Order: sequence, then structure tokens, then C-alpha cells
Amino acid sequence: MSLNSEFDFDTTIERKNTSSNKWDDVEKLFGAPDVLPMWVADMDFSAPPCVQKALSDRVAHGVYGYASPRDSYRDALRGWLERRHDYVVERDAIVYCSGVVPALSLLIQALSEPGDPVLIQPPVYPPFAAMIGRNGRRVVENPLVVRDGGYQMDLVDFERKVVDEGIRLFILCSPHNPVGRVWTRAELTALGEICLRHGVFVVSDEIHADLILPGFQHTPFAAINPDFAAVSATCVAPSKTFNLAGLQTAFTIIADAKARAAYQRCSDRYGSNTPNVFGLVAAQTVFEQGDAWLDALLVYLGEGAQRIDAFLRGVAPQLTWIQPEGSYLGWLDCRELGMGHEDLGAFFQQQAKVGLNNGHAFGTGGDGFMRLNFGCPHSTLGEGLSRIEQALTSR
Ligand SMILES: Cc1ncc(COP(=O)(O)O)c(C=O)c1O
Repeated sequence: MSLNSEFDFDTTIERKNTSSNKWDDVEKLFGAPDVLPMWVADMDFSAPPCVQKALSDRVAHGVYGYASPRDSYRDALRGWLERRHDYVVERDAIVYCSGVVPALSLLIQALSEPGDPVLIQPPVYPPFAAMIGRNGRRVVENPLVVRDGGYQMDLVDFERKVVDEGIRLFILCSPHNPVGRVWTRAELTALGEICLRHGVFVVSDEIHADLILPGFQHTPFAAINPDFAAVSATCVAPSKTFNLAGLQTAFTIIADAKARAAYQRCSDRYGSNTPNVFGLVAAQTVFEQGDAWLDALLVYLGEGAQRIDAFLRGVAPQLTWIQPEGSYLGWLDCRELGMGHEDLGAFFQQQAKVGLNNGHAFGTGGDGFMRLNFGCPHSTLGEGLSRIEQALTSR
């Protein structure tokens, strides 16, 4: 157990046969049942005790009819955002949605027309491009660049693309999955000023906002100034933070009433905006009572990141990474192995027997990288790293 922590992140919990996407789809996705899953972004920890208790109480009630969101859950979220991120939002600006990806899809529908270009910054979470394409819009890329030993935005290219392509909608990943950047206030301000200058609406996916590793600080885009808030929508959720992704509960914050009404119309057309009753209970509980658990989790994740760093420096110098500033996703640079993305995927899957996400799926700039999820007990992480070590040794 982590030093000084009253919470247990060390116990390995059997997740097979729980309809777990991460564990029960291993054979289908990675070709063998003994591959250790370290891919999709959910953690192998149980949810905080406060949420388990609140859900048990709700289960014990026995009646699970339609839920009608009360002001209390919005107020719990407002309290959380203000307490953790100095981000003040109006109650009316918060709209429930069943997930951030559905929210992205609705925002694309609400704020652009078929055929319109939408800007993203690859390598980035694959559903960004997928949702743009599936909604009949066109992906325009402003690839991240590696400068001074870290990933940065290329704002010169960003502005050029905005002007040349007539961009009106941009999807920001903040913090960034998979490269692990927690964008600074200065970076976001420079970005936002370009957007203001050219009338670009910013959809800021901040689902990883609470998972900030020691030494870094998340800045909500909309909290920087009211002008940014007026031209943006912020997607947040308790799902990554508290490992509640299966409860299908997220929130979109849209300060501008016109944009919010457009979003609401798309949501109404979709016909599914009744919250999951357990998701609401869980969200309200963690937003009110989850601070101590999250603080302990962040220490544990920081220790995990240090273990990976030590492994890469000491044991596997063929692989490198830029240490993540947030979340529990390690972006491993495997280019020195000299493999194409298919061979690289096969190497990790078949030789190392670890199930990672292939960087290729994250678009431009992703080839030669693998994403490793270290949101797991240190013993599981150690097992994954030793499998990688053995595979590298026997190459
Ligand atoms: C950046 C980002 N957005 C959205 C999601 C998924 O959100 P949801 O499960 O609420 O649709 C993820 C999950 O990994 C993510 O990394």
C-alpha cells in the first residue's frame, strides 16, 4: 500500500467474467487469453469506498425507475470544479450526457454542418477523428511536435490551418491523451487567442482533468477568461478519475445559451438524455466526497510512472518515453526497435504478451509508439514490465 494512504490500490482484483471490455475481450483483441491487458483507459482499482456505499444503498432501495436529475448533482459538480480547478460554472450551463464521446458527436452535429472541416491535434484519442468522419465532417490536422524534449502545439501551423481551411470548430484534448501533456495556462491562452481572432469554437475534452501527476496543474480552458468560456464547451466526467466508466455518466458545460440550445436540440433528436440512476448517485457522491481517494490515487499513479521511468532507463533502454504529466497512460517510444506498426503490435502482443494500444491508431505521429495503461496495482505493472523485458532480451 502506498505510504500514508488509507486506501488500497495494491490488491489485485479478478476482473475476468465481469463483462469487462479490458479483460474479457483480451483473446478477441490480442489473439490469446494469457495476454495481460494494459490498454483501454480504465483502471484495475475498485471505486472509492464512498461510492460503493452510496451505490449499495441505492441498490438496496430496490426501485430503479427513470431518473430525473436534481440540482444537487449539478451543485456537486460545480463544487468539485471550483474546489479542484478554480473553475466557476453556472448551474444552467451543465448538461448531462451518457459519455464524453456521445457529447463530442452531439457537439459536432450542433456546431458544424456536413462537409465542414474540424481541427484536431494528433496523435490523439481516436474517437475524435472517428466522430468527425462519422458525422460527415472532414478532419483537418494540426499535429503536435516534439520540441525541447517534450510535446508541444505548433501554433503557427494551427493558425495557418484555421485560416486556410476556414476552421470554425476545434476539438482540444486537455490533458492530452495519449502524449500525457497537461497544457499550461500560457499555452492554452495563446491557443484561445487564435481561436477568438478567427471565430473558432473550442470543444475542450477535459475528461483527464483530475488525473494530474505531482508537480503539474490543470487549467480548464473556459476558466481562463469569460471570452474563452463564451466560445467553448467543456466535457468532463467522473469516469476516468474514479474508475466509473461503466456507469455512463458525463457532463458538458456550455456557457453560451445559443450553443447550449443547439446542443440540446441534437440531444433531443437523439432521444436519449435520461440519466442512468446509478451514474448520478456515483457522480454526486464522488464530487462531494472523493477528494481524499483521488489525492491518494495520484500519489500511487506517480509512483507507477516512476517505476516505468526507472525500467526504461535501467532495463529497457531501447524504449523511451516522455514522462506523462497527467493520467495513467504511458506513451512509449519504440521507434528504436525499427519495426513497422504491425510488427510492433505483434511483438508486444505475441512475444511480450501484453495488450497495449498501438500508437498507429492515434493518427499522425503515432507510428512507432505504444500506449501502456499503468492504472493498475504495482504488482500488475511489474508483471507487464517484466514480460516486456523478457521479450526484448530474447529478440
Ligand atoms: C480524451 C478522452 N475522451 C473521452 C474518452 C471516453 O469518454 P466516455 O467513456 O465518457 O465516452 C476517453 C477515454 O479514454 C478519453 O481518453
